[in-house]
Amino acid sequence: MDFTIGAVSVIITKGDITEVEADAIVNAANSYLEHGGGVAGAIVRKGGQIIQEESREWVRRYGPVPVGGVAVTSAGRLKAKYVIHAVGPRCSVEPIEKLGEAVRNALLKADELGLSSIAFPAISTGIFGCPYEDAAYQMAKTIRDIAPSLKYVRKILVVLYGDEAYRKFEEVFKKVLS
Ligand code: AR6
Repeated sequence: MDFTIGAVSVIITKGDITEVEADAIVNAANSYLEHGGGVAGAIVRKGGQIIQEESREWVRRYGPVPVGGVAVTSAGRLKAKYVIHAVGPRCSVEPIEKLGEAVRNALLKADELGLSSIAFPAISTGIFGCPYEDAAYQMAKTIRDIAPSLKYVRKILVVLYGDEAYRKFEEVFKKVLS
C-alpha cells in the first residue's frame, strides 16, 4: 500500500527488512547496541559482525544511545549503505511517544546523510512489547509531520514481518495518511 506526502512516497510492505533495497535500513536496537534477537540479530547475521563491532565502537565513543535516539554504522554485506540503529521504548516502562522520537531522529539522520530512501521495521513491537496499533500510530504521525521538511529522503518503506502486523499498520496508516 502506497501513500504520498508532497514529494515523499510512503510504502507499507510485508517481508524481511534485511532483503530490502534502501540507502538506509533502520535497526530496532537497544541503548547498548548489543544486537541479540529480532531484527537486530537478523541484520548482524546477514550484514556481518562488522555491524556489531562498529556499534560497540559507537557506544565506547559516545556512550549508550538514549531511548528515542539513533546511531549510525555501515551496513556490511547488506544492500543498504548504512544501518541507522534506533532505540525505541520498552512499552512496560517507557512512553510510546519515544517511538515517534526514534522515527523522527532516524528520518533526520537519513536526510542529514543525503540519502533518498530508508526502510523501517516495526520498532518496539517485538521484544520491547509495544502493541502494533500504538506503534503504527506513532510512526504514521511522525512521518506525516516530518516528511514535508525532508530535503533528500523521497522514499520511506515500512517493512512488516507477518500478516497481522501488516494488516494493523495498513489500517492505521490509511487513517493517518489518507
Ligand atoms: N524483518 C522485518 N521485521 C522483523 C524481522 C525482519 N527480519 N525480524 C523481526 N521483525 P524486535 P524491538 C519484526 O524484537 O521490539 C533486540 O534484541 C518483529 O516481528 O526486533 O524494538 C534488540 O537488540 C517485530 O514486529 O525489536 C533489542 O534488545 C519488530 O520487527 C530489542 O530486540 C520489532 O521486533 C528491541 O526490541
